[in-house]
Amino acid sequence: MVFGIILAGGVGSRMGDTKKPKQFILLGGKPIIVHTIEKFYVNPEFEKIIVLCPNQWLNHTRNLVANYFPKDNNVVVIEGGRDRNGTIMNSLAYIEQNYGLDEDTIVVTHDAVRPFVTHRIIEENIRYAQEYGACDTVIPATDTIVESQDHTVIHAIPDRKMMYQGQTPQSFQAKKLKELYESLTKEEKDILSDAAKIFVIKGEEVRLVRGETFNIKLTYPYDLKVAEALLAEEKNEK
Ligand code: CTP
Repeated sequence: MVFGIILAGGVGSRMGDTKKPKQFILLGGKPIIVHTIEKFYVNPEFEKIIVLCPNQWLNHTRNLVANYFPKDNNVVVIEGGRDRNGTIMNSLAYIEQNYGLDEDTIVVTHDAVRPFVTHRIIEENIRYAQEYGACDTVIPATDTIVESQDHTVIHAIPDRKMMYQGQTPQSFQAKKLKELYESLTKEEKDILSDAAKIFVIKGEEVRLVRGETFNIKLTYPYDLKVAEALLAEEKNEK
């Protein structure tokens, strides 16, 4: 079984909207999170789409789902976790309780604030996770990446040809993801911002899926302006 996991458990502090987390901001008159759910909703491969949001936004999110996806019970809204990986773990607990976790259970985890993900990216994620156990969506780095450990001077400039920028979805065989996460120490869990890294630090292979430059994460107010332009383009293409 394949599950779509929409990660909306954050508060969006860098967006600076004090009234609501960024995933609920309107884009072209519709909440960002609804645009994102729609991309998953049209794919018949998903057994269920699990949306995870902060506790105090559960009712609001459930109402949005009821309004925008009225005839469907394929979308479920549950509470997110303390950090991003905690949110992913809540989705695995839900799947385990309701369906059980076996070798064929695949999770396609995606940021609620990346509404421009494509059908091709989602399809490749499903296929690669089934075939290889884990995959991450990336694009080649455009800027040179500079590493500084003390935030004052440069310590390394890795070869740009080998550098990529991570996007989402990140997709995994769910059982393996849970087992690897549970084998981490508390210190390891605390420094992990990224789910693919759970596999990487345990020496497990993560395949690369080609992302798109327009598959941006809406983080700062500036990104909303870019997003409005991208949305207009997306509509023109239809
Ligand atoms: N996320 C989540 N659960 C958390 C924290 C983050 O599901 N406990 C989700 C966010 O809702 C977002 C995605 O992970 O869709 C990417 O994270 P980021 O852009 O960092 O979102 P926020 O944590 O909301 O943003 P900020 O760091 O500006 O507060």
